Amino acid sequence: MTARQSVLHSAGPIASETADIAWLLIAGAALVFTIVIVTLALALWRRRRGERAGPGDAAWLIGAGIAFPAVVLSALLWHVNARSPRLAVAGDRDEIVIGVTGRMWWWEVRYPTEGAASQVLLANEIRLPAGRTVRLALGSGDVIHSFWVPALAGKVDMLPGRVHALRLRADVPGVWRGQCAEFCGEQHARMALDVVVLEPAQFDVWLAAQARPAPASSDPRVAAGRAVYRAQRCAACHSIRGLEEGGSLAPDLTHLASRLRLGAGTLAMHRAGLTDWVANVQGVKTGARMPSFDRLDADALAALAAFLESLK
Ligand code: CUA
Repeated sequence: MTARQSVLHSAGPIASETADIAWLLIAGAALVFTIVIVTLALALWRRRRGERAGPGDAAWLIGAGIAFPAVVLSALLWHVNARSPRLAVAGDRDEIVIGVTGRMWWWEVRYPTEGAASQVLLANEIRLPAGRTVRLALGSGDVIHSFWVPALAGKVDMLPGRVHALRLRADVPGVWRGQCAEFCGEQHARMALDVVVLEPAQFDVWLAAQARPAPASSDPRVAAGRAVYRAQRCAACHSIRGLEEGGSLAPDLTHLASRLRLGAGTLAMHRAGLTDWVANVQGVKTGARMPSFDRLDADALAALAAFLESLK
C-alpha cells in the first residue's frame, strides 16, 4: 500500500479547510504580485520616455502603496479569522483518544482498551475509523517533535512534559503518510508514520485483534527464532505481550508483522526487510538506538525473522 503525503489531497475536514484558506491566500498574493509588477513596468516605461514626476503621482503612492495593501491585507485577515474556528472539529461523546508520543526516531501509539489491564501499544502506525472523530494526545519522550499528516490536519508540536490535543476526522478510507516536522536529530528524516483509515467495522475488528496477546506458534522455525530473541536479550528494550514481556524503551512488537512498515517508514514489512533491519540497523538508520546484530549468522537471522513475522 502506498501512502500519500500531500497537502493537495485532503482527506478530512480540517485539511480541506486549511487547503481552502491556503488557496485563497495564494490567490490574494498572486493578485498583489501582479499589480506590483504591472506598476513597476509602467514606472520603468514612463522613465524610459523621459517623463517627469507629475502632480498625480502622490495619489498613486497613497492609493497603491498604502490604501490598496491595507484593504487587501485587512480583508484577508478578517476572512481567515472568521474561518479559523472551523479548523477545530467538535468532539464526540464517544470519541476515541489515541496517545501518540514522539521519540528519537519513532512514534509510540497507544489505544485504550476496555477492561484489559494493558493498553494496545503500537509503533509508527495509527489506524482510524473513517467518519469518526478521534482525539490525539500528542506528547514527546525526549526532544521536540512535530506531528504532521498533511492530508488530515496541520502540524502540531510535540513537546516534552506537555500534551497537545489534536481532534481530527478522516472522511475516506486510505493510507496517509505523516512525517515529523520539527528537526529532532540525525534521523529526523526517517521519522515517518502511516495513518491507515479503515471502514468503522473493519477498524473494530482490527482493534480487537490488536488487543489480543501475541499469537503463539508451534512452528519449529519460529521456536528457534524465539530462542534467538531470548539469547540476544531483545526483551531488555522490546516487549511482546503475552509471549515475551519486556522493556518499553523500544517499539512494542506484539503485532509487529501487522504493520505496513519498519523503522518509522524506513523499510517495507517483509522477511527481507526484517533481516536487513536486525542485522544492519546502523547501516539502514545510522544513530538509531538499536545496535546492529551483525554477530548473528544467516541461520539465526532467518529464524529470528520468521519469529518476528509470526507476530501478526
Ligand atoms: Cu522527530 Cu523530527
